[in-house]
Amino acid sequence: MATFSISHYLTALTFLIFHLKISAADQSASFSFNSFGKDPKFDSNIALYGDAKVADDGSWIQLTNSVSWSAGRVMYKKPIKLVEGKVRNFASFSTYFSFSMSHENGDGLAFVMLPSSFDVNVMDNSSFGISPGVEKNNSRIFAVEFDTYKDAKYGDLNKNHVGIDVGSLVSAKVKNLSSVNLVLNNGEKLHSWIDYEASSKRVEIRLSQSGSTRPDDPLLSYSIGLSKLWNDEEVFVGLSSSNGNSSQTCFIHSWSFKLRQVPNWMHSQPLDPKAVAKNPKPLTTGHKSSNCSWRVLAVFILGLACGALIGSCLLYVWNILGDRRPVAPEECGLHPVDFDYKKVIVVDKAVKDGKN
Ligand SMILES: *[C@@H]1O[C@H](CO)[C@@H](O)[C@H](O)[C@H]1NC(C)=O
Ligand SMILES: *[C@@H]1O[C@H](CO)[C@@H](O)[C@H](O)[C@H]1NC(C)=O
Ligand SMILES: *[C@@H]1O[C@H](CO)[C@@H](O)[C@H](O)[C@H]1NC(C)=O
Ligand SMILES: *[C@@H]1O[C@H](CO)[C@@H](O)[C@H](O)[C@H]1NC(C)=O
Repeated sequence: MATFSISHYLTALTFLIFHLKISAADQSASFSFNSFGKDPKFDSNIALYGDAKVADDGSWIQLTNSVSWSAGRVMYKKPIKLVEGKVRNFASFSTYFSFSMSHENGDGLAFVMLPSSFDVNVMDNSSFGISPGVEKNNSRIFAVEFDTYKDAKYGDLNKNHVGIDVGSLVSAKVKNLSSVNLVLNNGEKLHSWIDYEASSKRVEIRLSQSGSTRPDDPLLSYSIGLSKLWNDEEVFVGLSSSNGNSSQTCFIHSWSFKLRQVPNWMHSQPLDPKAVAKNPKPLTTGHKSSNCSWRVLAVFILGLACGALIGSCLLYVWNILGDRRPVAPEECGLHPVDFDYKKVIVVDKAVKDGKN
């Protein structure tokens, strides 16, 4: 029985170490803003470009002004490292943001992920403010456009669509929003969730007009290996808008981003399939997440301390018992037991060696 507990202890320890690594990765590349400006983390983490400004006492960020050829962008300042560790796990991520746009037909809004070699300081006045970078060959941009302008140059479907753009503003996949009774630019607040699952190399876009409840079904999904697009390069994430010759205004009301680092072995053999399936749920409230990470960290440290104590006690007891009883009970032919049996022998030997 004692060996069995030790084996559990070792398994738990391995699991805890993995989790510590995971929460550490999450901490640095995750953020959440339900208001802007007033949040003490805002200035150190968020950069505004072009016409973008914090407005209405921090309730929103206004990206474009109600004059033509206005463009603005908000970016998370820290580059995000999507490749982690020696095994080169490519991280999954989720972002959620709410936005609104006035009824004019400007270019609309785009969620952008730009490799760190991309010159983020260059701001253009058209094509979501990113066209100078995109028109360069091999731009390696990934974007989700919420487009309210039918731009013939990029073969746009209509003036009310969502598109997934990879390396070009000609969308790889689009959805006609009119066909699902959604309107991007009627001034109403819209909620969007973008999730990338690294194991299945799949991106999913969700959009909702009715409150902040995440729809079950994605509006759009697309298979793409982002690890191929960026290799080891870090990326910047942002929200970018331009209004062309219209006077469309675009507002961001909240924005969160979360990196999800999942060890390789979990992809092939989930311990609890239900728990893994639940993972892609987005963060809609940010402070919870950081609190939670700290709580989880505290619990793990406590767990480690207790585990170590119990482990040593068990080893001690086993050593005493080991002298009196046959070491390997016949009925236990399981691998974990064999493994621990060897372990205990090593410890025993070490103790004897120490005495000699
Ligand atoms: C916008 O860009 C166009 C061409 O890129 C340029 O001709 C125009 O002057 C710019 N307008 C403003 C207000 O910067
Ligand atoms: C991009 O580069 C490739 C080869 O590197 C070339 O074949 C292609 O024509 C270029 N495209 C543009 C738009 O410059
Ligand atoms: C988009 O959907 C609307 C409503 O179903 C339809 O009238 C329109 O023709 C569609 N546009 C395209 C380009 O398919
Ligand atoms: C903007 O330009 C397009 C063509 O480039 C034109 O059809 C449209 O009328 C213009 N809109 C305004 C408000 O000037």
